[in-house]
Amino acid sequence: MDISSNGLAEIVGAANVLIGDDIGDRYRSDFLKKHVAAPAVVLRPASTQEVSEILKLAHREGTPVTAIGGQTGMCGAAMASPGGIALSLERMNRIEEIDPASMTMTVQAGCVLQVAHEAAEAEGVFLPLDLGARGSAMIGGVIGTNAGGNRVLRWGMMRDMVLGLEVVLADGRIVSSLGKMIKDNAGYNWKHLLIGSEGTLGVVTRAVLRLRPLPTTHQTAIVATESFEDTIRLLRKLDASLSGRLSSFELLWGDCYERVVDAQLDQLKRPVPLAKGHGFYTVVEAMGSDKEGDDAQFERALAAELEGGLIVDAAVANSESQRATLWGVRDEMHVGFMNLMPFCNYDVSMAQSVMPTFVARVREDLAQRFPNAVSYFYGHAGDGNLHAIVNPLEPGKPLDSIAVDRIVFGVVRELGGSIAAEHGIGTLRREFLDWTRSEDELWMMRAIKQALDPRGILNPGKVL
Ligand code: MLT
Ligand code: ZN
Repeated sequence: MDISSNGLAEIVGAANVLIGDDIGDRYRSDFLKKHVAAPAVVLRPASTQEVSEILKLAHREGTPVTAIGGQTGMCGAAMASPGGIALSLERMNRIEEIDPASMTMTVQAGCVLQVAHEAAEAEGVFLPLDLGARGSAMIGGVIGTNAGGNRVLRWGMMRDMVLGLEVVLADGRIVSSLGKMIKDNAGYNWKHLLIGSEGTLGVVTRAVLRLRPLPTTHQTAIVATESFEDTIRLLRKLDASLSGRLSSFELLWGDCYERVVDAQLDQLKRPVPLAKGHGFYTVVEAMGSDKEGDDAQFERALAAELEGGLIVDAAVANSESQRATLWGVRDEMHVGFMNLMPFCNYDVSMAQSVMPTFVARVREDLAQRFPNAVSYFYGHAGDGNLHAIVNPLEPGKPLDSIAVDRIVFGVVRELGGSIAAEHGIGTLRREFLDWTRSEDELWMMRAIKQALDPRGILNPGKVL
């Protein structure tokens, strides 16, 4: 596209049009450095109106537009097309309103998740969505991917927190529905179509988010169990005995735990919180508002399961710094996997009852094809979402990720799961979408895309 003549600088101001060497690394790849973007231009609009003007122009010219945020997505969805526009929402980062009476906050898409957390807490209210990338992920991105993370078990995914949404469609039309209602059955709920559409149906510019009462107590522990079945039994029992306060249940298979804590001890000098050697380790957290009652309830619940033998060892955090140490095991798992790079990583979901079968089958099938392969499993077991890291360990050969994908997704398909639990499809999983969605579902998705973006300018090549 001819940048000088098409008036981009008139829309966003010359300082917010980046071309050539001014396009920094942040706009050319993502944090995993797995994907590459080659935009002709980066634009940094300051308002919904500016986004609309840009899209009108791109629509006229048939130029691809990719909305980008914190660049901590996992599947390449925010990598701008070669020669296209990278539309960075970073300047649209304001929290426009916090309304404690309605328990809502209205935010612009470029607001970083952690900033939104802190602003809510300062007003005594709570935005529950939480994930490792909280310090970089932006609200538009977490809506675009329908992010999940560590507290889905209790408060749901991003979809469950978006009450109102403003988007700009491919032709520049602004669709704004910034209501604060939980209930709204007036016709099709288009908002849910946009959430999780990875920038292929519209550009999210603002949202009204649902807030919750701010928990004032946390009880955090890491517990060891010997079998997967015991771990799931524990999940169900804690969910009941903590009266619905169980907020996180983050599971690591024993060998994964060992690898991560060894590396964290070595590189971060983080002490190993619980002795190694057990089958499974889970970071468990409850939240509430009754300091003495909640602590006592948590201790009673864990003690009962220790006595009953479901839990074989446990470490409970007695201070904020101990809590941070326990969460550090889970939040900084990458430390354990750095020296396995490049590896394949997965984000799948299935019924909790078939998870052990999944792991056993993946390991069997991998061993047949790649005798030296290593695989590690962890994830949000409380909501049925597992992550896996696989390296086929074939020294001297390029990573055969397609062969590994076929093995992992083949087992997911047989077990009736999903190949993309929370990270989305992007470009990374596109070839496998029909392993998890039927022909009729795909037909419907294409029809929707065609209706909303007939020229195919919004994030082309992603999802479909
Ligand atoms: C997580 O749960 O830590 C994130 O989804 C990233 C991942 O580990 O794949
Ligand atoms: Zn995750």
